[in-house]
Amino acid sequence: AIEKTFLMIKPDGVKRQVIGDIVNRFERRGFELKGAKLMVASREIAEAHYAEHADKPFFGELVDFITSGPVFAMVWEGENVISLARTMMGKTNPADSQPGTIRGDFAVTVAENIIHGSDSVESAEREISLWFGEGLA
Ligand code: CMP
Repeated sequence: AIEKTFLMIKPDGVKRQVIGDIVNRFERRGFELKGAKLMVASREIAEAHYAEHADKPFFGELVDFITSGPVFAMVWEGENVISLARTMMGKTNPADSQPGTIRGDFAVTVAENIIHGSDSVESAEREISLWFGEGLA
């Protein structure tokens, strides 16, 4: 099915200057960019985004990290994009990510793993409305 997903290049990816490389991968695959913005996330939006991890021991660190510098928030559309984007990203822990994936090419630690992607239709809808509201192409 044609889906939309929310992808976000985290502060480590923005600092590493791999926005263009990552956007290029999704364009080449055949997905369509529907929204994008460089922004510093407020603690409020970061805590809402990661609400499902609120009771994890790393939650404070996670929110500190994601608000530590600009992120590049994006919405992409295409056939099966939610699952295919996650395959292109590699495993959450870059130590388990194959070369050729985004994390397998750019990252080594789980805390600084370059990119976030929605894991289901429900989380994609929630994350798109949290980060973009109604402002999509
Ligand atoms: P993400 O897909 O953005 O969703 C939750 C994030 O929590 C995950 O990517 C990791 O970056 C982060 N995370 C998972 N485990 C740890 C950990 N042990 N320490 C710090 N961050 C973590």
